[in-house]
Amino acid sequence: MRWLTVFFLAGTLALAQFPGQRPPSKGPWSNEKLPPEERARLLVQAMTLDEKIQMVHGIGWFFGADMNLSGQEPPPVVWRSNGGGGFIPGIPRLGVPDIQLNDAMLGSAGNARMGRYSTALPSGLALAASWDPEIAREFGALIGRELRDQGFHISLGGGINLTREPRNGRNFEYLGEDPLLAGRMIARYLDGKQSQGIVGLLKHYALNNQETGRHFVNVRISRKGARESELLAFEIAVKEGRPGSIMCSYNLVDGEYACENAWLLNDVLKKEWGFPGFVMSDWGATHSTVKAALHGLDMEMPGDTFFGAALKEAVQKGEVPMTRLDDMVQRIAWALFRAGIFDRVTRRQAPDIFLGFEVAQKAAEAGIVLLKNDRAVLPLDPSATPSIAVIGGHADKGVLSGGGSAQVDPAGGNPVPPPPPRPGASFLEILFGTPVYHRSVPLRAIQASAPAAKVSFASGDDIAAAAALAKSSSVAVVFATQHTSEGKDLDDLSLPGRQNDLIEAVAAANPRTVVVLENGTAVKMPWLGRVPAVLASWYPGIRGAEAIANVLFGRVNPSGKLPITFPRSEEDLAQPRLVKQPEPRGPEDLGPMFPGGPAMLRMNTRRFDLEYPEGARAGYKWFQSMKREPLFPFGHGLSYTTFAYADLRVDAGKREATFTLRNTGKRAGAEVAQVYVELPSAAGENFRRLAGWQKVELKPGEQRTVTVPLHPLTLAVFDEKANRWETLRGTYRVFVGGSSASTPLSAEMQIQ
Ligand code: BGC
Repeated sequence: MRWLTVFFLAGTLALAQFPGQRPPSKGPWSNEKLPPEERARLLVQAMTLDEKIQMVHGIGWFFGADMNLSGQEPPPVVWRSNGGGGFIPGIPRLGVPDIQLNDAMLGSAGNARMGRYSTALPSGLALAASWDPEIAREFGALIGRELRDQGFHISLGGGINLTREPRNGRNFEYLGEDPLLAGRMIARYLDGKQSQGIVGLLKHYALNNQETGRHFVNVRISRKGARESELLAFEIAVKEGRPGSIMCSYNLVDGEYACENAWLLNDVLKKEWGFPGFVMSDWGATHSTVKAALHGLDMEMPGDTFFGAALKEAVQKGEVPMTRLDDMVQRIAWALFRAGIFDRVTRRQAPDIFLGFEVAQKAAEAGIVLLKNDRAVLPLDPSATPSIAVIGGHADKGVLSGGGSAQVDPAGGNPVPPPPPRPGASFLEILFGTPVYHRSVPLRAIQASAPAAKVSFASGDDIAAAAALAKSSSVAVVFATQHTSEGKDLDDLSLPGRQNDLIEAVAAANPRTVVVLENGTAVKMPWLGRVPAVLASWYPGIRGAEAIANVLFGRVNPSGKLPITFPRSEEDLAQPRLVKQPEPRGPEDLGPMFPGGPAMLRMNTRRFDLEYPEGARAGYKWFQSMKREPLFPFGHGLSYTTFAYADLRVDAGKREATFTLRNTGKRAGAEVAQVYVELPSAAGENFRRLAGWQKVELKPGEQRTVTVPLHPLTLAVFDEKANRWETLRGTYRVFVGGSSASTPLSAEMQIQ
């Protein structure tokens, strides 16, 4: 492996060019003044069949040598791969550069093996919890810049599968349970990424809401239910964020694999939404040649099993018309031209990850949610806090991150040595199951915030010792971790190990106990009644500890709001109905969503059908419609100040809500003012929909008039028969407040 790295480095130096250098013109498509679609058309015209085929698939995994999917010896060209998730060799004759792809939802991922690092940003849920589109743009721009520095062209980031199932191991990557919040936030994130000359991507299209059996699960949901929930998130994101690419998912939808599902790809995405970019398969999610090509897939990744020689033959036989192959290449080339990739020489340089710290910290601070704060335990006053017990969560070493393809490798290595793998564990289990920490150290950040205080650490392994330390300290801060990862779902939403016992014991020893969660999804809190203050910091990234300390000590007033519902119990969730038994090889094949299955990587299941009973009612909509009280509702989040809402006026013509918001407390702070609508009774809905929001910063005593436009699709229903959105006539009720469960203002709006 070492010689390979040396080889790579040599290649890097050879390829490095000076900034501003342009590749030589190779034909009329090299003319930057022409629009990207015209340049793509000219390029396609000049291509041979083999060249077109070369553009529509990758050549293997990472170096191609690791996992050559077509079973051939890796051709020498693989050494030009940049070591990312995918690689398409260029065509020098036409000036098509080598195209390098990498995972990058939360930073350019998995680069340590190449000796490269990128800024580890907080998780997607943390970003969503900021409800701040400008932060999403900065977040995306930072990742785009680092990808470009590292020599990548296409980002495999942009996951917005809705949190329908809180136990899904990948929720941390995504942007929560609401289609408007997820769609809007990812649109700005894409703006940021694409502003750096990177092709932005949305994934996983669609309804990839659990990891258990992800290659085999056939999701059954009504089209109306799909269009009004997850597909609405994608629709908003495609129209407002204009990604160059969409990654289709592993699962099946309505009996067809997502990557050959004509309804999803051709009908909805391309025809109805007018998506001009290309559809790329998830890694190994292509299942056919002719069907996939005709049903809308434009690129197979990472290999060429179906879109290499097999596609060439299908085109030669006329099974796939040449016009369709041209369309595939046109879409890919359009995205590349639009991003300027033909017009610059790739120049690799190590990103300065320290430059990213500011954005990482800002995003972490904006995304921390203060869930509970009784007796104003927070913020801590260093002068009145002589001793602080910091307990658990490896808070002396770093902050947790989520696992899988979104994992940004920790600069300096993983500071918490992972436990030895289970005997017989698979490669993927080890890869995805190992908790990785970033070197942002809560213990240090807390000590720096209270330099005069005696700050002590207890690991929490010895619960009695931790409780004794808490007892002798003026305040106890317990760090509780919940590791989640791609490739596995959680068995349940309890904190793993003995952390609940630890928190109970510490809270019993010290009434001033603060729990800081480092969480990938919702958490159950049996100890909540005995703990006065709880923060959700998600996976807070490389400046997570500093962000947490700033919130704990009040240098930052928390303003995050939950992008997902925290249920009291898994029983309150919509229970997906297993329609067809999956013919398991063993009981463990069924997975954690079903009783009796352990959680780790069951990819061996045969196909099974899963019906989503909640349809469009993902998350809070389900809880509202079932009249179930969650532990913490969607949109909830406290501040160190208070806000008052008044004077709601709605304008049915302009479709907007106007109200006043006042900071009634003593500190400056930001409030995420949320607007929900209840549709006319003809819609038959007994829940509200988030229709808009605005995050407003106010000084103490300051009042502002806020106008929030209501997103037209959140006011509409999808008419399945007519296959279109329809706005019902009648009375809409508009609710305004600081969470989905706290809306002090309401008004009616007539739409004729
Ligand atoms: C994941 C994708 C990822 C791809 C490439 C797949 O297993 O589902 O999200 O982009 O691998 O790493």
